[in-house]
Amino acid sequence: MTSTPLTSRPAWQALQNHVAAARERHLRELFAADPRRGERLALDVDGLYFDYAKNRVTDETIRLLVQLADECDLRGRIAAMFGGERINTTENRAVLHVVLRAPREATILVDGVNVVPQVHAVLDKMTAFAERVRGGAWKGHTGRAIRNIVNIGIGGSDLGPVMAFEALRHYTNRSLTFRFVSNVDGTDFVEATHDLAPAETLFIVSSKTFTTLETMTNAHSARNWLLRALSGDVKAVAKHFVAVSTNAAKVAEFGIDTENMFEFWDWVGGRYSMDSAIGLSTMLAIGPENFRELLAGFHAMDEHFRTAPFEKNMPALMALLGVWNTNFLGAETVAVLPYDQYLKRFPAYLQQLTMESNGKRVTLAGAEVDYATGQIYWGEPGTNGQHSFYQLIHQGTRLVACDFIAFAQTLNPLGPHHDLLMANVIAQAEALAFGKTADEVRAEGTPEWLVPHRVFPGNRPSNTILAERLTPSVLGKLIALYEHAVFAQGVIWNIDSFDQWGVELGKVLAQRIVPELTAKEAPVLGHDSSTNRLIERYRAAKGG
Ligand code: F6P
Repeated sequence: MTSTPLTSRPAWQALQNHVAAARERHLRELFAADPRRGERLALDVDGLYFDYAKNRVTDETIRLLVQLADECDLRGRIAAMFGGERINTTENRAVLHVVLRAPREATILVDGVNVVPQVHAVLDKMTAFAERVRGGAWKGHTGRAIRNIVNIGIGGSDLGPVMAFEALRHYTNRSLTFRFVSNVDGTDFVEATHDLAPAETLFIVSSKTFTTLETMTNAHSARNWLLRALSGDVKAVAKHFVAVSTNAAKVAEFGIDTENMFEFWDWVGGRYSMDSAIGLSTMLAIGPENFRELLAGFHAMDEHFRTAPFEKNMPALMALLGVWNTNFLGAETVAVLPYDQYLKRFPAYLQQLTMESNGKRVTLAGAEVDYATGQIYWGEPGTNGQHSFYQLIHQGTRLVACDFIAFAQTLNPLGPHHDLLMANVIAQAEALAFGKTADEVRAEGTPEWLVPHRVFPGNRPSNTILAERLTPSVLGKLIALYEHAVFAQGVIWNIDSFDQWGVELGKVLAQRIVPELTAKEAPVLGHDSSTNRLIERYRAAKGG
């Protein structure tokens, strides 16, 4: 596959010429020059409002970025994704998370087969199961109803379910207890289950491959924990374990009846799977109707992304602004700052979505890139972050792009809280953009020696995403916005956003080290001197 190198594209070169002038212009000037900037540089998709006016862009910047998207054939790549082409070339797979939320009557072909009916068959099976569990009809081995649900999974089989559970907690069935176990550190399992009655506990083992070390280790510990409490009767497993996977053979090998398996497919990437059967815990928590509302939200953003022109296309614009901030203004990181406590796990979820997708150093054709890819995502809910790391964003030497996320209506009205929260998110974006000049600081009577310390340079870029209320549908739109922005960036950077070879080496080395830690006799170690010493020290200190 040969294509023009990204940095040789006319739009890229034009952006490189354009950036020198852009660097000189402060957001203060840009707003002063155009009193309607805040209205113009904003989009509304079905109630999700995206204000990108506080980015260091002019109309010309946007024009060139859109031209870059055209030159990189973003339109064609979107069509290829939605059309079921095998765009994940290194794994030779189609990338079709959009099918997971396609309406029943849609047709989307993979190798000539319409896969929409399969998706809806699994959704129907999940619905029937969720209704039985939520209604108390599904009984555990001793005849007691299920009151506790523990999802065991890691990465995409954990972060989406945890994030969605927290984000939609308001809509959850409060008579059920939900826990999430991911880490191979036994503490995770022990703390998650210490107060649960095994006879009332259902485990969902969520793993696309059903071979992941952490998940299988936790699943075996869960099996032992259950059987210890239920007199070792292996028949109990059928009532207390269900699986979500693409690998029926491995599920059966573990001892879970494949009748109790909820299927998904290799064309759903792990980090794009929270709206597949991997969302079973979400459906159990919020109910099938709310789950379908979540899917409808995803679908609305899918359709927008697929059809809207790039200058009015929210995920495409978000992606292009990210490219501008990273490759031209030098911002290496994006702080995700949800002003909603329910979104406390959203930054962690986005870390996998964005960094496992776009943390790549070679192009689709395998050539080393000569430009930055994959922004670093991190964050915390506001206002907590304001009392922690915002100092660096306001006055540090690095440029940090920020995504503020907020909702006009709170789900928990409590005196003045929500107006205070909203005042803060609006103020932070304003402060980052406009800052405070030395003259303004002086005018407040600040002694000269203190002036430099109290100056805020401003000109810090941010997006603000505002919706009326955090509903399942709005959450779906928000997640799909980031999913598609990640893909669009991957297209610009000409990388495979859907593989994850970088996780392999550590896994292989760990498997090699396990026997060196557990062998009775001191093994002959063939690592480097640092690794050898760490192993020896661990063996000497571990006791038992
Ligand atoms: O280690 C990376 C990874 O493959 C992720 O991409 C994935 O989400 C996670 O592991 C879990 O994989 P699985 O669902 O197969 O257990």
